[in-house]
Amino acid sequence: MKNFISVKDVPDIKGLVNKALQYKADPFVDKMPGSNKRIGMLFMNPSMRTRISTQIAAQNLGMQAIVFNIDKEGWKLETEEGAIMNGTTVEHIMDAAPVFGAYFDILCVRTFPQLENRDADYSEQLIQSLIKYSGIPVVSLESATLHPLQSLTDIITITELFQQQRKPKVVLTWAPHIKPIPQCVGNSFAQWVNVWGEADFVIANPEGFDLKEEFTNGATILHDQQEALKDADFVYVKNWSSYEDYGAVKQGAEDWMLSNDKLNVTNVAKVMHCLPVRRNVELSDEVLNGNNSIVTHQASNRVWAAQAVLAEILKG
Ligand code: CP
Repeated sequence: MKNFISVKDVPDIKGLVNKALQYKADPFVDKMPGSNKRIGMLFMNPSMRTRISTQIAAQNLGMQAIVFNIDKEGWKLETEEGAIMNGTTVEHIMDAAPVFGAYFDILCVRTFPQLENRDADYSEQLIQSLIKYSGIPVVSLESATLHPLQSLTDIITITELFQQQRKPKVVLTWAPHIKPIPQCVGNSFAQWVNVWGEADFVIANPEGFDLKEEFTNGATILHDQQEALKDADFVYVKNWSSYEDYGAVKQGAEDWMLSNDKLNVTNVAKVMHCLPVRRNVELSDEVLNGNNSIVTHQASNRVWAAQAVLAEILKG
């Protein structure tokens, strides 16, 4: 594996999931394949789980991790090719990326969308420029449109916790939120589950909030949450702003918040969320504090997903 930007970079999802579960059983099974290697972790946006779990994963492989909060500590980057830099940007990505390439063996980056210009966000210019100009493998720690480390974690978690001889029913349900949230977790989860092919997959969201078809293609999309939840084994709760009316927030949709009474129609579903979560907006206290919630288990698996990905890239 050269880069890890989307599911398209992964030749064998089940193999990667098994590798992650092997690391969970024994984090040091591979005897430090990353010794004397350095990983650079660039953050344009906040993070807790991705940042810490990837650092632990790198350490487990013997790598040294250097975190650089570009948004707060770095020069303001220009990404537009041919730009006349007489404004606020100070350094071009074409100049910065090869320097990262000289310092690091693997480059990781987190960058959020602006949610103002859909074409600009979906072009993933920053991450594509880093791939083009750094000359080293690039790992997404969440991009403008996708969150592949989260999605790999989610599939690891479902694989680990569902041991029956049938496919689980997995429902991705939209949740309310007070501000515009990227579509990347929803896009990415849909993309990964569709390619994985080991779940009966249903997406529930209000009208006008369908995710981009490129990612959902293969899933059943329903606009009735209760109908979608019937017989679910896993319910993944997540907000996203509108792709159609780009960045729009849905008003008056508080009744989409997942609560215990809604879970009555499920198959004692396990409830997932990538975190951070707004309690009593996206998910009720009773669900998060109850036996159905596996959000901490899910977050703990972030380490093994990151370790499997980094190890695979080191092998390459
Ligand atoms: N789920 C997730 O990516 O969490 P952080 O934003 O805290 O990294």
